[in-house]
Amino acid sequence: MSEPSRLRLTGYAAAHLLLGVVALALAILTVVGGVLMVVWVGGLLLVVAVPATRLVADAHRRMAADVLGLDVPRPYRPVPRQPLAALVAVARDPMSWRDLGWLVWACTFGWVVALLCVLELLAVLTWPLWWVAVRPTMQLRSHVDLWFLASSRTEKLERRVQVLTETRAEAVDHAAGELRRLERDLHDGPQARLVALSMSLGLAEQALADPAGDPARARRLVTDARATTSAAIGELRAVVRGIHPPVLADRGLAGAVEALALDMAVPVHVEVDLPGRPPAPVESALYLGVAECLANVGKHAGAAAATIALHHVGGRLRVVVTDDGVGGADPDAGTGMLGIRRRLASFDGTMAVSSPPGGPTEIVLEVPCDLSWPRTTRSSAPG
Ligand SMILES: Nc1ncnc2c1ncn2[C@@H]1O[C@H](COP(=O)(O)OP(=O)(O)OP(=O)(O)O)[C@@H](O)[C@H]1O
Ligand SMILES: [Mg+2]
Repeated sequence: MSEPSRLRLTGYAAAHLLLGVVALALAILTVVGGVLMVVWVGGLLLVVAVPATRLVADAHRRMAADVLGLDVPRPYRPVPRQPLAALVAVARDPMSWRDLGWLVWACTFGWVVALLCVLELLAVLTWPLWWVAVRPTMQLRSHVDLWFLASSRTEKLERRVQVLTETRAEAVDHAAGELRRLERDLHDGPQARLVALSMSLGLAEQALADPAGDPARARRLVTDARATTSAAIGELRAVVRGIHPPVLADRGLAGAVEALALDMAVPVHVEVDLPGRPPAPVESALYLGVAECLANVGKHAGAAAATIALHHVGGRLRVVVTDDGVGGADPDAGTGMLGIRRRLASFDGTMAVSSPPGGPTEIVLEVPCDLSWPRTTRSSAPG
């Protein structure tokens, strides 16, 4: 990022002067609003003052970020829609209180600092001073602005702990859910078959033990038992596939995704560039994510073609699934996409959805992870 020119810095100082007056008004409005909260009318003042303060603070964050060449994210916690909950959330956000402190700085000392920068440029005699001093002065002012307006290390760590706590709870829920699903699958599938098998064999045994019995019936029962055994094996295979798809173990993520693409009714172009192998749990999560995206393409998109691109860039494994269908994918409308998001969140991964009405749909799954093993590059034509 190039350094802003001295004139631009002075322009910022002029903006600080104007916004300093706004800051004074907002500081008064906020304090009066806070005091009047005792009789609730204060709430009306705060409804105006808090968002306005955040807008003015945003402008200063952008200017300070430019002056110092930093990247400063917006630090506020999410605000719920319900008014009372919103008020509580704003009051509990430490950034709200730091904004208030910043308003006081911006309309007092900070305002004087900005005034000096502007005045130095207005008189020819002070131009040398302006030339030398405007940059360090504005850097100082920006440092103080960010001391108030950017979240501190502790706050960043607190937020991280909160995210980790939430994703851990989700991972535990997810694991418990998976166990329940496995239990149900085993109970309804193989277990039921084995019970039937035991009954068939018991009846066959009786038929054979009875000297006056019917050997043809015993043979029929044994044939039934064989068929039931095959069905039980098939069902056990399906359960095992749900735990860790064997194709993943055999062929890795690239091969497994290609196999998924080949099973689709529409042509799916797969493009893979993986310089190694991701950890098995990440592989599993991404594989199941791609499987769900492709299932959705088949169920909802009405697409003529789809693509899957799988890359590892900047320490992040990235899968992009696109289709040229009708669009309108909405993670909140079902359980499949929310499931992907939860599964990825346990690895600090994300899912981004872009699906305007009329299409196209693009789902980006990303997980930070390192790869192991040597390089394999593949690309397949539409299958
Ligand atoms: N590729 C897509 N193109 C168009 N619409 C989509 C696409 N993917 C998802 N959608 C829409 O988004 C909704 C949510 O998808 P999601 O996978 O979460 O649920 P679902 O597929 O309806 O049900 P399930 O819980 O069985 O997955 C779908 O109901 C569908 O309307
Ligand atoms: Mg779905």
